[in-house]
Amino acid sequence: MNCLGSVPVSTKSKFLWGVATSAFQLEGSPYADWAAWDERLRSNPNVTNHYFLYKKDLNLLKELGVNAYRFSLEWSRIQPEEDRWDMEAIRHYQDIVDILRREDIEPMVTLHHFTHPRWFLEKYPWHNDRSVQKYLAYVEKVVSTLRGVRYWITFNEPYILLLGGYLDGSMPPGLREVPSAVKAIGNILVSHSRIYDMLHSADQDAQVGIAHNMAAIAPCRFWHPLDRLLSKIAMFFYNHSLIDAFLSGTLRIRFPFKKEIEMRLPIKGKVDFVGVNYYTRVHLRFNPFKKMGVELRYQDTGGHGLTDTGWEVHPRGLEKVVRYASKLNIPIIITENGIATRDDEKKIKFIKRHVDVLKRCLESGIDVRGYFYWSLIDNYEWLRGFDARFGLYRVDFSTFERKPTSAATYYSYLIKKNKKF
Ligand code: BGC
Repeated sequence: MNCLGSVPVSTKSKFLWGVATSAFQLEGSPYADWAAWDERLRSNPNVTNHYFLYKKDLNLLKELGVNAYRFSLEWSRIQPEEDRWDMEAIRHYQDIVDILRREDIEPMVTLHHFTHPRWFLEKYPWHNDRSVQKYLAYVEKVVSTLRGVRYWITFNEPYILLLGGYLDGSMPPGLREVPSAVKAIGNILVSHSRIYDMLHSADQDAQVGIAHNMAAIAPCRFWHPLDRLLSKIAMFFYNHSLIDAFLSGTLRIRFPFKKEIEMRLPIKGKVDFVGVNYYTRVHLRFNPFKKMGVELRYQDTGGHGLTDTGWEVHPRGLEKVVRYASKLNIPIIITENGIATRDDEKKIKFIKRHVDVLKRCLESGIDVRGYFYWSLIDNYEWLRGFDARFGLYRVDFSTFERKPTSAATYYSYLIKKNKKF
Protein backbone atom coordinates (compact mmCIF):
# COMPACT_ATOMS: atom_id res chain seq x y z
CA MET A 1 0.00 0.00 0.00
CA ASN A 2 1.21 3.47 -0.77
CA CYS A 3 0.01 6.41 1.36
CA LEU A 4 0.38 8.62 -1.65
CA GLY A 5 -2.31 6.74 -3.54
CA SER A 6 -2.30 7.67 -7.20
CA VAL A 7 -0.98 11.19 -6.67
CA PRO A 8 2.17 11.87 -8.68
CA VAL A 9 4.85 13.34 -6.46
CA SER A 10 7.89 15.07 -7.81
CA THR A 11 11.07 13.45 -6.58
CA LYS A 12 13.13 16.58 -7.07
CA SER A 13 13.57 18.05 -3.65
CA LYS A 14 12.91 21.74 -3.45
CA PHE A 15 13.20 24.14 -0.53
CA LEU A 16 9.88 24.11 1.29
CA TRP A 17 8.54 27.61 1.85
CA GLY A 18 5.44 27.28 3.93
CA VAL A 19 3.19 28.33 6.73
CA ALA A 20 2.17 26.19 9.69
CA THR A 21 -1.11 25.85 11.58
CA SER A 22 -2.76 23.38 13.91
CA ALA A 23 -6.34 22.14 13.64
CA PHE A 24 -7.55 22.94 17.12
CA GLN A 25 -6.10 26.43 17.05
CA LEU A 26 -8.06 27.20 13.89
CA GLU A 27 -11.23 25.20 14.23
CA GLY A 28 -11.67 24.08 17.87
CA SER A 29 -13.50 20.80 18.51
CA PRO A 30 -16.33 19.99 20.90
CA TYR A 31 -14.75 16.58 21.56
CA ALA A 32 -11.28 17.76 22.50
CA ASP A 33 -9.80 17.91 25.99
CA TRP A 34 -8.85 21.57 25.46
CA ALA A 35 -12.43 22.62 24.74
CA ALA A 36 -13.23 21.99 28.38
CA TRP A 37 -9.85 23.16 29.65
CA ASP A 38 -9.94 26.83 28.65
CA GLU A 39 -13.07 28.83 29.50
CA ARG A 40 -12.32 31.37 26.81
CA LEU A 41 -13.22 28.78 24.20
CA ARG A 42 -16.81 28.58 25.41
CA SER A 43 -17.76 31.87 23.84
CA ASN A 44 -15.82 31.10 20.67
CA PRO A 45 -15.82 27.32 20.19
CA ASN A 46 -15.18 27.40 16.44
CA VAL A 47 -12.26 29.82 16.90
CA THR A 48 -11.66 31.19 13.37
CA ASN A 49 -14.40 29.02 11.84
CA HIS A 50 -11.75 27.44 9.65
CA TYR A 51 -13.48 24.06 9.69
CA PHE A 52 -16.15 25.66 7.51
CA LEU A 53 -14.03 28.30 5.79
CA TYR A 54 -11.09 26.05 4.93
CA LYS A 55 -11.44 26.46 1.18
CA LYS A 56 -11.14 30.22 1.48
CA ASP A 57 -8.17 29.86 3.80
CA LEU A 58 -6.43 27.48 1.43
CA ASN A 59 -6.80 30.16 -1.23
CA LEU A 60 -4.65 32.39 0.94
CA LEU A 61 -1.84 29.89 0.50
CA LYS A 62 -2.02 30.42 -3.24
CA GLU A 63 -2.07 34.15 -2.73
CA LEU A 64 1.09 33.86 -0.60
CA GLY A 65 2.84 31.64 -3.10
CA VAL A 66 3.99 29.03 -0.57
CA ASN A 67 4.88 25.59 -1.90
CA ALA A 68 4.19 23.75 1.38
CA TYR A 69 1.61 23.80 4.14
CA ARG A 70 1.92 22.23 7.58
CA PHE A 71 -1.39 21.51 9.29
CA SER A 72 -2.66 19.01 11.81
CA LEU A 73 -5.53 16.56 12.04
CA GLU A 74 -7.86 16.95 14.97
CA TRP A 75 -7.87 13.47 16.47
CA SER A 76 -11.00 14.22 18.53
CA ARG A 77 -12.98 14.95 15.36
CA ILE A 78 -11.80 11.74 13.71
CA GLN A 79 -12.46 9.59 16.78
CA PRO A 80 -14.96 11.51 18.91
CA GLU A 81 -15.69 8.41 21.00
CA GLU A 82 -13.47 5.47 21.77
CA ASP A 83 -15.46 3.16 19.52
CA ARG A 84 -16.63 5.65 16.88
CA TRP A 85 -14.79 6.86 13.83
CA ASP A 86 -16.14 9.86 11.98
CA MET A 87 -15.39 9.18 8.33
CA GLU A 88 -16.79 12.59 7.42
CA ALA A 89 -13.96 14.21 9.40
CA ILE A 90 -11.39 12.12 7.54
CA ARG A 91 -12.98 13.13 4.23
CA HIS A 92 -12.72 16.73 5.34
CA TYR A 93 -8.96 16.43 5.85
CA GLN A 94 -8.68 14.46 2.62
CA ASP A 95 -10.27 17.38 0.83
CA ILE A 96 -7.59 19.67 2.25
CA VAL A 97 -4.84 17.35 1.01
CA ASP A 98 -6.47 17.08 -2.43
CA ILE A 99 -6.78 20.84 -2.78
CA LEU A 100 -3.13 21.28 -1.79
CA ARG A 101 -2.00 18.64 -4.28
CA ARG A 102 -3.98 20.29 -7.06
CA GLU A 103 -2.23 23.57 -6.27
CA ASP A 104 1.16 21.88 -6.10
CA ILE A 105 1.52 22.71 -2.42
CA GLU A 106 3.25 19.98 -0.41
CA PRO A 107 1.12 18.89 2.55
CA MET A 108 2.91 18.23 5.83
CA VAL A 109 0.58 16.54 8.29
CA THR A 110 1.00 16.74 12.06
CA LEU A 111 -0.73 13.78 13.65
CA HIS A 112 -0.71 15.18 17.18
CA HIS A 113 -0.61 18.86 18.06
CA PHE A 114 -1.31 18.97 21.82
CA THR A 115 -5.02 18.04 21.81
CA HIS A 116 -6.67 14.67 22.53
CA PRO A 117 -10.19 13.32 22.42
CA ARG A 118 -11.67 13.68 25.90
CA TRP A 119 -12.13 9.92 26.29
CA PHE A 120 -8.39 9.41 25.69
CA LEU A 121 -7.40 11.93 28.32
CA GLU A 122 -9.87 10.51 30.83
CA LYS A 123 -9.04 6.84 30.32
CA TYR A 124 -5.59 6.51 28.75
CA PRO A 125 -3.50 9.65 29.32
CA TRP A 126 0.11 9.39 28.20
CA HIS A 127 1.40 8.13 31.54
CA ASN A 128 -0.86 5.09 31.12
CA ASP A 129 0.83 2.39 29.02
CA ARG A 130 -2.36 1.69 27.05
CA SER A 131 -2.05 5.17 25.55
CA VAL A 132 0.36 3.81 22.94
CA GLN A 133 -2.07 1.25 21.57
CA LYS A 134 -4.93 3.79 21.54
CA TYR A 135 -2.88 6.42 19.72
CA LEU A 136 -1.60 3.86 17.23
CA ALA A 137 -5.16 2.79 16.39
CA TYR A 138 -5.96 6.38 15.43
CA VAL A 139 -2.81 6.73 13.37
CA GLU A 140 -3.46 3.41 11.65
CA LYS A 141 -6.92 4.63 10.69
CA VAL A 142 -5.42 7.79 9.23
CA VAL A 143 -2.63 6.01 7.39
CA SER A 144 -5.00 3.50 5.84
CA THR A 145 -7.46 6.12 4.65
CA LEU A 146 -5.75 9.44 3.98
CA ARG A 147 -4.10 9.64 0.56
CA GLY A 148 -1.54 12.03 -0.86
CA VAL A 149 0.66 12.76 2.15
CA ARG A 150 4.40 12.25 2.16
CA TYR A 151 5.59 14.45 5.07
CA TRP A 152 4.39 13.40 8.51
CA ILE A 153 5.04 14.77 11.97
CA THR A 154 4.27 12.25 14.68
CA PHE A 155 4.18 14.77 17.53
CA ASN A 156 4.37 18.50 17.83
CA GLU A 157 6.67 19.53 20.68
CA PRO A 158 6.51 16.56 23.02
CA TYR A 159 8.49 18.51 25.62
CA ILE A 160 5.95 21.34 25.75
CA LEU A 161 3.27 18.72 26.33
CA LEU A 162 5.45 17.30 29.07
CA LEU A 163 6.18 20.60 30.76
CA GLY A 164 2.61 21.87 30.49
CA GLY A 165 0.78 18.60 31.05
CA TYR A 166 3.02 16.94 33.61
CA LEU A 167 5.34 19.43 35.28
CA ASP A 168 3.66 22.80 35.67
CA GLY A 169 0.09 21.57 35.20
CA SER A 170 -0.92 24.33 32.78
CA MET A 171 -2.10 21.95 30.05
CA PRO A 172 -4.24 18.79 30.17
CA PRO A 173 -3.93 16.47 32.07
CA GLY A 174 -2.75 19.19 34.46
CA LEU A 175 -0.39 17.10 36.58
CA ARG A 176 2.79 18.08 38.42
CA GLU A 177 4.51 14.77 38.86
CA VAL A 178 7.97 13.87 37.65
CA PRO A 179 7.38 10.07 37.61
CA SER A 180 4.24 10.48 35.45
CA ALA A 181 6.12 12.88 33.18
CA VAL A 182 8.83 10.29 32.66
CA LYS A 183 6.29 7.57 31.94
CA ALA A 184 4.48 9.89 29.51
CA ILE A 185 7.54 10.85 27.48
CA GLY A 186 8.51 7.17 27.28
CA ASN A 187 5.08 6.28 25.84
CA ILE A 188 5.13 9.22 23.45
CA LEU A 189 8.50 8.25 22.04
CA VAL A 190 7.62 4.56 21.82
CA SER A 191 4.55 5.65 19.82
CA HIS A 192 6.77 7.78 17.60
CA SER A 193 8.97 4.79 16.85
CA ARG A 194 6.03 2.50 16.05
CA ILE A 195 4.45 5.13 13.78
CA TYR A 196 7.77 5.60 12.03
CA ASP A 197 7.73 1.90 11.14
CA MET A 198 4.05 1.94 10.23
CA LEU A 199 4.43 4.87 7.85
CA HIS A 200 7.50 3.38 6.22
CA SER A 201 5.89 0.03 5.65
CA ALA A 202 2.92 1.84 4.08
CA ASP A 203 5.13 4.02 1.90
CA GLN A 204 8.87 3.65 1.44
CA ASP A 205 9.17 7.31 0.50
CA ALA A 206 7.41 8.65 3.57
CA GLN A 207 9.30 11.39 5.36
CA VAL A 208 8.66 11.06 9.06
CA GLY A 209 9.74 13.68 11.54
CA ILE A 210 9.00 15.16 14.93
CA ALA A 211 8.67 18.89 15.69
CA HIS A 212 10.94 19.86 18.54
CA ASN A 213 10.61 23.21 20.28
CA MET A 214 14.11 24.59 20.79
CA ALA A 215 15.00 27.86 22.50
CA ALA A 216 18.07 29.96 23.02
CA ILE A 217 18.91 29.83 26.72
CA ALA A 218 21.17 32.14 28.73
CA PRO A 219 21.90 32.88 32.39
CA CYS A 220 20.29 36.05 33.77
CA ARG A 221 23.47 36.97 35.62
CA PHE A 222 26.47 35.64 33.82
CA TRP A 223 28.62 36.01 36.94
CA HIS A 224 26.29 33.85 39.02
CA PRO A 225 27.37 30.19 39.07
CA LEU A 226 23.85 28.90 39.79
CA ASP A 227 22.31 30.88 36.92
CA ARG A 228 24.97 29.42 34.66
CA LEU A 229 24.44 25.91 35.99
CA LEU A 230 20.67 26.14 35.48
CA SER A 231 21.14 27.34 31.91
CA LYS A 232 23.43 24.44 31.20
CA ILE A 233 20.98 21.93 32.65
CA ALA A 234 18.05 23.53 30.80
CA MET A 235 19.97 23.57 27.53
CA PHE A 236 20.78 19.92 27.94
CA PHE A 237 17.25 18.88 28.86
CA TYR A 238 15.17 21.19 26.70
CA ASN A 239 17.22 21.37 23.52
CA HIS A 240 19.66 18.51 23.44
CA SER A 241 18.26 15.42 25.17
CA LEU A 242 15.72 14.58 22.48
CA ILE A 243 18.22 15.02 19.64
CA ASP A 244 20.74 12.91 21.55
CA ALA A 245 18.12 10.20 22.15
CA PHE A 246 17.54 9.84 18.40
CA LEU A 247 21.30 9.46 18.03
CA SER A 248 21.92 6.98 20.82
CA GLY A 249 18.62 5.30 21.67
CA THR A 250 18.92 6.54 25.26
CA LEU A 251 16.94 9.43 26.65
CA ARG A 252 18.70 11.19 29.50
CA ILE A 253 16.60 13.59 31.52
CA ARG A 254 18.14 15.77 34.16
CA PHE A 255 16.19 18.28 36.20
CA PRO A 256 17.93 20.79 38.49
CA PHE A 257 18.99 19.31 41.82
CA LYS A 258 17.60 15.88 40.91
CA LYS A 259 19.21 12.60 39.89
CA GLU A 260 19.56 11.98 36.17
CA ILE A 261 16.98 9.63 34.67
CA GLU A 262 18.01 7.32 31.85
CA MET A 263 15.65 5.45 29.53
CA ARG A 264 16.41 3.08 26.65
CA LEU A 265 13.94 3.73 23.86
CA PRO A 266 13.54 2.15 20.41
CA ILE A 267 14.04 5.44 18.55
CA LYS A 268 17.66 5.36 17.45
CA GLY A 269 17.79 6.62 13.86
CA LYS A 270 14.00 6.54 13.55
CA VAL A 271 13.50 10.00 12.16
CA ASP A 272 13.90 11.21 8.57
CA PHE A 273 13.95 14.92 9.27
CA VAL A 274 14.00 17.00 12.39
CA GLY A 275 11.46 19.77 12.70
CA VAL A 276 12.72 22.75 14.66
CA ASN A 277 10.19 25.14 16.18
CA TYR A 278 12.07 28.26 17.22
CA TYR A 279 10.66 31.44 18.74
CA THR A 280 12.79 33.06 21.42
CA ARG A 281 15.54 33.18 24.02
CA VAL A 282 14.89 32.68 27.72
CA HIS A 283 17.06 33.91 30.57
CA LEU A 284 17.26 31.79 33.70
CA ARG A 285 17.82 32.95 37.24
CA PHE A 286 18.26 30.87 40.36
CA ASN A 287 15.42 31.58 42.76
CA PRO A 288 15.02 29.26 45.76
CA PHE A 289 11.31 30.13 46.01
CA LYS A 290 10.52 28.83 42.52
CA LYS A 291 9.90 25.23 41.41
CA MET A 292 13.28 23.47 41.02
CA GLY A 293 14.88 26.85 41.81
CA VAL A 294 14.28 28.16 38.31
CA GLU A 295 12.92 31.59 37.46
CA LEU A 296 12.38 32.20 33.80
CA ARG A 297 12.60 35.67 32.28
CA TYR A 298 12.38 37.23 28.87
CA GLN A 299 14.54 40.31 28.57
CA ASP A 300 15.37 42.48 25.62
CA THR A 301 19.14 42.28 25.89
CA GLY A 302 19.73 42.06 22.14
CA GLY A 303 17.74 45.21 21.32
CA HIS A 304 15.35 43.47 18.90
CA GLY A 305 12.41 44.01 21.25
CA LEU A 306 9.81 41.83 22.92
CA THR A 307 6.69 40.42 21.27
CA ASP A 308 3.07 40.78 22.42
CA THR A 309 3.51 37.52 24.31
CA GLY A 310 6.48 39.11 26.08
CA TRP A 311 9.06 36.91 24.33
CA GLU A 312 12.47 38.21 23.31
CA VAL A 313 13.14 38.47 19.58
CA HIS A 314 16.51 36.79 19.20
CA PRO A 315 17.23 35.72 15.60
CA ARG A 316 20.80 34.58 16.29
CA GLY A 317 19.48 31.83 18.53
CA LEU A 318 18.01 30.11 15.49
CA GLU A 319 21.50 29.36 14.21
CA LYS A 320 22.57 27.85 17.53
CA VAL A 321 19.65 25.46 17.77
CA VAL A 322 19.80 24.49 14.11
CA ARG A 323 23.50 23.80 14.48
CA TYR A 324 22.79 21.46 17.38
CA ALA A 325 19.99 19.71 15.50
CA SER A 326 22.39 19.15 12.59
CA LYS A 327 24.25 16.66 14.82
CA LEU A 328 21.63 14.16 13.69
CA ASN A 329 22.93 14.40 10.15
CA ILE A 330 19.48 14.37 8.62
CA PRO A 331 17.59 17.22 6.92
CA ILE A 332 16.28 19.96 9.18
CA ILE A 333 13.04 21.79 8.55
CA ILE A 334 12.11 24.91 10.47
CA THR A 335 8.58 23.73 11.15
CA GLU A 336 7.61 26.88 13.11
CA ASN A 337 8.96 30.38 13.58
CA GLY A 338 6.76 33.36 14.20
CA ILE A 339 5.87 36.42 16.22
CA ALA A 340 2.75 37.62 18.00
CA THR A 341 2.35 41.30 17.25
CA ARG A 342 -0.18 43.72 15.83
CA ASP A 343 2.69 45.77 14.44
CA ASP A 344 3.22 44.70 10.82
CA GLU A 345 6.61 46.35 10.54
CA LYS A 346 7.80 44.36 13.53
CA LYS A 347 6.47 41.16 11.97
CA ILE A 348 8.30 41.91 8.73
CA LYS A 349 11.57 42.58 10.54
CA PHE A 350 11.16 39.38 12.54
CA ILE A 351 10.74 37.30 9.40
CA LYS A 352 13.57 39.05 7.57
CA ARG A 353 16.04 38.64 10.41
CA HIS A 354 15.26 34.99 10.94
CA VAL A 355 15.44 34.20 7.24
CA ASP A 356 18.82 36.01 7.11
CA VAL A 357 20.06 33.70 9.84
CA LEU A 358 18.64 30.75 7.96
CA LYS A 359 20.62 31.80 4.87
CA ARG A 360 23.78 31.88 6.98
CA CYS A 361 23.04 28.35 8.18
CA LEU A 362 22.64 27.19 4.58
CA GLU A 363 25.81 28.95 3.49
CA SER A 364 27.74 27.21 6.23
CA GLY A 365 26.56 23.87 4.86
CA ILE A 366 23.76 22.95 7.28
CA ASP A 367 21.13 20.89 5.53
CA VAL A 368 17.98 22.97 6.09
CA ARG A 369 15.20 21.99 3.70
CA GLY A 370 12.34 24.26 4.64
CA TYR A 371 10.95 27.19 6.58
CA PHE A 372 7.35 27.43 7.84
CA TYR A 373 6.12 30.69 9.26
CA TRP A 374 3.73 30.37 12.23
CA SER A 375 1.04 31.13 11.32
CA LEU A 376 -1.16 31.58 8.27
CA ILE A 377 -3.96 33.42 10.08
CA ASP A 378 -4.46 34.64 13.66
CA ASN A 379 -5.74 31.81 15.80
CA TYR A 380 -6.35 30.54 19.32
CA GLU A 381 -3.17 30.66 21.34
CA TRP A 382 -2.92 28.05 24.10
CA LEU A 383 -3.40 29.58 27.55
CA ARG A 384 -3.66 33.09 26.12
CA GLY A 385 -6.83 33.10 24.08
CA PHE A 386 -7.37 35.24 21.01
CA ASP A 387 -5.10 38.20 21.49
CA ALA A 388 -1.75 36.81 20.36
CA ARG A 389 -1.64 37.84 16.71
CA PHE A 390 0.75 35.46 14.98
CA GLY A 391 -1.07 35.53 11.63
CA LEU A 392 0.09 36.79 8.28
CA TYR A 393 -3.64 37.42 7.87
CA ARG A 394 -5.54 39.26 10.58
CA VAL A 395 -8.75 37.59 11.79
CA ASP A 396 -11.74 39.40 13.17
CA PHE A 397 -13.04 36.83 15.66
CA SER A 398 -16.59 38.13 15.61
CA THR A 399 -17.15 38.34 11.84
CA PHE A 400 -14.48 35.75 10.86
CA GLU A 401 -13.21 38.16 8.25
CA ARG A 402 -9.56 37.69 7.17
CA LYS A 403 -7.40 40.61 6.06
CA PRO A 404 -3.84 40.45 4.80
CA THR A 405 -1.18 42.20 6.87
CA SER A 406 1.75 43.76 5.06
CA ALA A 407 3.81 40.88 6.45
CA ALA A 408 1.85 38.60 4.09
CA THR A 409 2.94 40.73 1.13
CA TYR A 410 6.49 40.73 2.43
CA TYR A 411 6.55 36.95 2.91
CA SER A 412 5.33 36.40 -0.68
CA TYR A 413 8.06 38.68 -1.94
CA LEU A 414 10.68 36.86 0.12
CA ILE A 415 9.57 33.50 -1.23
CA LYS A 416 9.71 34.70 -4.84
CA LYS A 417 13.13 36.20 -4.29
CA ASN A 418 14.53 33.08 -2.68
CA LYS A 419 12.91 30.39 -4.77
CA LYS A 420 16.28 28.87 -5.53
CA PHE A 421 17.36 28.38 -1.91
C1 BGC B 1 3.19 25.65 19.16
C2 BGC B 1 2.02 26.40 18.57
C3 BGC B 1 1.89 27.74 19.26
C4 BGC B 1 3.16 28.53 19.03
C5 BGC B 1 3.15 29.92 19.64
C6 BGC B 1 4.41 26.50 19.37
O1 BGC B 1 5.09 26.10 20.50
O2 BGC B 1 3.47 24.52 18.39
O3 BGC B 1 0.88 25.61 18.71
O4 BGC B 1 0.78 28.45 18.87
O5 BGC B 1 4.23 27.84 19.61
O6 BGC B 1 3.08 29.85 21.02
